[in-house]
Amino acid sequence: MAFFLASYAREALGRLSERAKLPGLAGLRKGMEDALGIRFDARDGERLFRSTLVQTLFYGLFSAWVVHARAGKQNFDWRVSQWSLHVPVMRLLFGQIATPQALQPLGLVPLLDAAGAAMERIERDPFFTAFSDTHAVQYFYEPFLQYYDPELRRQLGVWYTPSEIVHFQVERVDRILRSELGVKSGLADQNVWVLDPCCGTGSYIVAVLDRIRKTLNGQGLGDLVAEELKKAATTRIVGFEIMTAPFVISHWQVGERLHDAPLGPNERAAVYLTNALTGWKPTDVGPPIPGYEELVEERGAAAAVKRDRPILVVLGNPPYNAYAGVSPDAEGGLVETYKVGLIDKWGVRKFNLDDLYVRFFRIAARRIAEGTGRGIVSYISNSSWISLPSFTVMRESLLQNFDRIWIENMHGDRTITEYGPDGRSSETVFAIDGFSPGIWQGVATSLLVRSGQNKAPIYRYRNDLNASDAAQRRADLVASLDDPNASTKYERLTPLPANRYVLRPVTSAHASYGEWPTIDSLLRVAPLPGLLEKRGGGLIDFDRKKLKARIKAYLDKSSTFEDARGANPALATNRAGYDAKKVRFRFVTEGFQPGNVQRYAYFAFDLTHIRPSKRPFEIAYVHSCFMFCRTQGAFCS
Ligand SMILES: C[S@@+](CC[C@H](N)C(=O)[O-])C[C@H]1O[C@@H](n2cnc3c(N)ncnc32)[C@H](O)[C@@H]1O
Repeated sequence: MAFFLASYAREALGRLSERAKLPGLAGLRKGMEDALGIRFDARDGERLFRSTLVQTLFYGLFSAWVVHARAGKQNFDWRVSQWSLHVPVMRLLFGQIATPQALQPLGLVPLLDAAGAAMERIERDPFFTAFSDTHAVQYFYEPFLQYYDPELRRQLGVWYTPSEIVHFQVERVDRILRSELGVKSGLADQNVWVLDPCCGTGSYIVAVLDRIRKTLNGQGLGDLVAEELKKAATTRIVGFEIMTAPFVISHWQVGERLHDAPLGPNERAAVYLTNALTGWKPTDVGPPIPGYEELVEERGAAAAVKRDRPILVVLGNPPYNAYAGVSPDAEGGLVETYKVGLIDKWGVRKFNLDDLYVRFFRIAARRIAEGTGRGIVSYISNSSWISLPSFTVMRESLLQNFDRIWIENMHGDRTITEYGPDGRSSETVFAIDGFSPGIWQGVATSLLVRSGQNKAPIYRYRNDLNASDAAQRRADLVASLDDPNASTKYERLTPLPANRYVLRPVTSAHASYGEWPTIDSLLRVAPLPGLLEKRGGGLIDFDRKKLKARIKAYLDKSSTFEDARGANPALATNRAGYDAKKVRFRFVTEGFQPGNVQRYAYFAFDLTHIRPSKRPFEIAYVHSCFMFCRTQGAFCS
């Protein structure tokens, strides 16, 4: 179903692109830019904007059909589907493309008719058996995005978080609220404000609601539970999301959780379309957005949470990649704090704090430490902050702000080809069999507590959740919740200036490691990063045959550019200074040169270093490329 809807959506996107100059769309685009503090005119911005609108339309349709079919109704008509229109900003987005005035010139009616008819052909019983509430996203959102726009998914780091991880984090937070902050009902306490600042499809929000329901049921509240839950979902369990597509799914998922006390026309889930990294200070007033009251309203509601609500818990799964249109300036130099003294005091001459997750740590830490004064942060993120020199000041700052830290190393670092104890390479916990290969970076779950009392600090690290199989590791993580000996599996940490505050165990032999000269400080010539492919993996493969076939198909003279994109989507994508169409045009004449596929060592001296295929990977280049790229940015940089 996801595949069929995605193909109609692609077609709709094509039509929207042909008619991109419609004045209504330009106004909406500007309005959304001003509301979110992003620019769609940056790299790929226009495409992202249109793509987002089409996704919103199709998710809206699909969720309307789900509600319609669940109610046992027949003859679905998308024209009269009243899906979630009580969220003003959704009404606005939907209205821009789905109202008769807008649809006529856009030419989307036949496509929406066809999509509606396809949904009516679904055999409902088996469909809903598979599409259980909790798996809705796995069954629909990820496969849809994969068929619809795989490149967009990669660029934005739009991966939903596996349910076991979400469950683990939410349970831990609930328990720690009780044990460390003395909140007896945990997340069910009416004063506990929770924020997922990057809520995507809403996995954490619904898991928190499930946890609250469980606690309230245990308290024998009977019929009051549904109303209490609705109160929590509309006020204090808050989500922020910058992309409209997952935002729509979040609302839909929360709506499904509230089936026994449905939202009224003037009620909405506390999930807001906003840039979580901006708008926290009273002085951060965005520009006026004339003609788009709904966006102003949404921005105001999100700002009220950012500035005024006593957020006690920040949890979630921060994104890995930033959209190029996001402006770090508007964020007020979020990570500057984590750079102070890095060079002078710590001698870290080269550092990289650009990963988006670092900024999400900063907003969470700032809110808890400087705002509420006590509270919890629970993230799953790239694990590099735990030990790399670039993050020394960030660690120092977090240690000053939080007196309890528990870290679970979730392994799966494919950038260094990490192995499990059975000798197989360690899969990322974000890999879902049959759905998603996940990400490359090693990850860790972390829970940081600011008790607000003068307690002796506790810093712990767990390293034994290391099965090479991702599903097994996730299951082990969940099982550890019921393990009475779980606390013995954590090692004690002693973060000190001498070890640059690393938050993983350091043996005594390495106690002074941090004081040793770094390798690059011994070199006369600064290290070079080597060949950077920077074409989204389009030029790389572990399998020579596959790579040859891909490049050959891409450079096939008789293919159109769109056919070529099918053969090698990564290479067909524009990137900074790389114009895919232009470059292909030049190289198509030369044609594919089989001799240009070469074995390539990923790291220096890497000829024996074993990647998953037990050999270095293959890289394709076009002969003239190296000269050509100096001036024009061709196939490789
Ligand atoms: C890893 S995903 C979170 C997945 C989510 N936990 C779920 O299960 O669906 C990260 C999310 O952060 C969103 N995001 C990226 N930058 C953001 C920003 N500046 N403000 C708010 N959300 C942002 C992305 O659009 C994406 O949906």
